[in-house]
Amino acid sequence: MRPVAVVGTGSIGVAFGIVFASASRYVRMWDPIADSLGRARHDIADRLAMLASRGLLREPAEDVAARITFHDELEHALWDVELVQECAPEDIDLKRRLFDLLGRHAPADAVLASSSSALIPSQYGAGLDFQDRILGAHPGNPPYLLRVIELVRSPETSDKFLDLAAEIYADAGLTAVFVRKEVEGFLFNRLQGALLREAYCLVRDGVATVEDIDEVVRSGLGLRWSLMGPFETVDLNTRGGVQAHAARMGPAYERMGAERGQHDPWTPDLVASVVAQRRRLLPLDAWEQRVRWRDERLMLLRSFKDLQEES
Ligand SMILES: NC(=O)c1ccc[n+]([C@@H]2O[C@H](COP(=O)([O-])OP(=O)(O)OC[C@H]3O[C@@H](n4cnc5c(N)ncnc54)[C@H](O)[C@@H]3O)[C@@H](O)[C@H]2O)c1
Repeated sequence: MRPVAVVGTGSIGVAFGIVFASASRYVRMWDPIADSLGRARHDIADRLAMLASRGLLREPAEDVAARITFHDELEHALWDVELVQECAPEDIDLKRRLFDLLGRHAPADAVLASSSSALIPSQYGAGLDFQDRILGAHPGNPPYLLRVIELVRSPETSDKFLDLAAEIYADAGLTAVFVRKEVEGFLFNRLQGALLREAYCLVRDGVATVEDIDEVVRSGLGLRWSLMGPFETVDLNTRGGVQAHAARMGPAYERMGAERGQHDPWTPDLVASVVAQRRRLLPLDAWEQRVRWRDERLMLLRSFKDLQEES
């Protein structure tokens, strides 16, 4: 396996170093700001020790750390890499200049991936000759524990580099989700944003305190969401699945949206598309069995949480 480079060694850079190195890749870290590399070396050792103490590494922490090297020269960090993971601050001008530099110094067959949380590859790749290699690869934080990555392509990104990126992340234990259109915030932050927008409104309007809202998510919604997404949740909540749920709850959700000035009704065509996708994943005749699966998993989580709260 060829090495990867991590460019920018703050929170996300450190975390990607751990992800790749614990999956047997050699990782070269580079950062232009004084002291950043020293801090990254320390943070990596600290996180690896924590992971090892929980049995989450396949080999001793020192063996994983030994695959990570720290470089003062960008050219040294980029030599022969298969992928560059850009983890610099969320600043469009900085990222654009950086991608120009990366494209000129990294191997011509290397994927150039940005960790950006909201910027799109058409923005930071604008006007560059090698846009076919540039894509967004947005992790959850920290990616050594949240094992999903959003891959965002611009119209210029080639299938070849997108597929290569997905393969490299899969080797590192991250499941790729393909974002099919360039939208700000992708899926992770759009979904999180929808919940946060409503949470802020509820606090503003005196409906609940911050702690009340966190409690509803911690003990209610979040416990289920650690097993299932919002579509599977409502599919299993209602006999008859998501179709029955949309018929029963759609009008109420539409009124709640209208209260916030949002008008995005679940039209019959849209519901039909969601139902068709869910039924391919779970035929209705397997519904009862999946509900039992959900309850068993929730029981496991509940007993783990109860144990934690008692100790
Ligand atoms: N923190 C999160 O929760 C999170 C989650 C997912 C994605 N991201 C994204 O990851 C990227 C990095 O975020 P972070 O939280 O690690 O930031 P951070 O501030 O912790 O780290 C940024 C690093 O970039 C370095 N840097 C500064 N100028 C640079 C340059 N010109 N070239 C290369 N490196 C430079 C800094 O020295 C620092 O070490 C951002 O685009 C952010 O949106 C962050």
